[in-house]
Amino acid sequence: MLTMPTTPAEASWENAPGLLDGAMTLELTAAQCNLDYWFTAVAQGTLLGLVRGHRPEAAVPEYMRAPGPLRSAIVAELGFRSVAEERCTRALSDLVNFAPDLDTMEFYATQLIDEARHARVFRGHLVELGVPEAELAATIEETSGKDIQAVLVPLEEFSQPTRDAHDFIGGVILLTVLVEGVLAPAAELSERKWRVLDPAAAEIERGAGIDEIRHLTVGSSVVREHLRAHPDDADRLRDLVERGQELWGSIPVLDMLARRETLFQEGLRDHADVVGDYEIWPGRRLVDTTVEERIQQALGWSLGMQQSRLAYMGLSE
Ligand SMILES: [Fe+2]
Ligand SMILES: [Fe+2]
Repeated sequence: MLTMPTTPAEASWENAPGLLDGAMTLELTAAQCNLDYWFTAVAQGTLLGLVRGHRPEAAVPEYMRAPGPLRSAIVAELGFRSVAEERCTRALSDLVNFAPDLDTMEFYATQLIDEARHARVFRGHLVELGVPEAELAATIEETSGKDIQAVLVPLEEFSQPTRDAHDFIGGVILLTVLVEGVLAPAAELSERKWRVLDPAAAEIERGAGIDEIRHLTVGSSVVREHLRAHPDDADRLRDLVERGQELWGSIPVLDMLARRETLFQEGLRDHADVVGDYEIWPGRRLVDTTVEERIQQALGWSLGMQQSRLAYMGLSE
């Protein structure tokens, strides 16, 4: 990929850090990441030359298109995530509507487009895997309908009072801490585990991950600035975070991950020759990992991410 020389490092295909690393170490604000930034850094930077969210030359290997556990695993994963991204896009229209100033409004307008793009490229990859476009909705319902009901619907119900109250900062907390902060580590895991098996999918994840760094860092800075101006709002927001964390504890997210990773494990066994010595993280070959190990890693990342974001915002205990 030829990123333009004007592309800032955090949005550049070659120089951006990984999602977790970037989201925990970089600092970006809405004033920096306004619409001007997005056109230059993202539309003419990160996204330059991508076709369906990946470099045109990134392959979709034939075995990914053939029926089997590997294909089932990725169809379930991307189907679910495409719906999560779509619902996130719709919820973002509230943040655009109620943003307190122009830079923040512009930033959330760009995030709205980013999430709509993620939904589109995840669906697009299902088509690349051989799902006919006309059957996308039915396929997603069949493979992920239960997960959508069990995971996304409770989250939406939980956020409804915040939306009804036109509570902008509450909405930012829900999105940054409770939705993106929890889901980002799963996206990191996904990029790493598909890297060799499905290079196009991994690149789609990488592009979405670069966007996610911006969403998590700017969202955190919006909350931090709000709390500096309104320290008396901290208890209310802390309570929202706690209730959200309780809700996550009651959602069968582990079941969903376990089903996905079990399918992946079967496919991994069948394609060990393709994966070879590829290391999913330093010193650990993907072929040697287990279902539990990958889930534990993602959960550990998730915890680290939440703690670092809450501390930055000023919402740690
Ligand atoms: Fe997204
Ligand atoms: Fe996002």
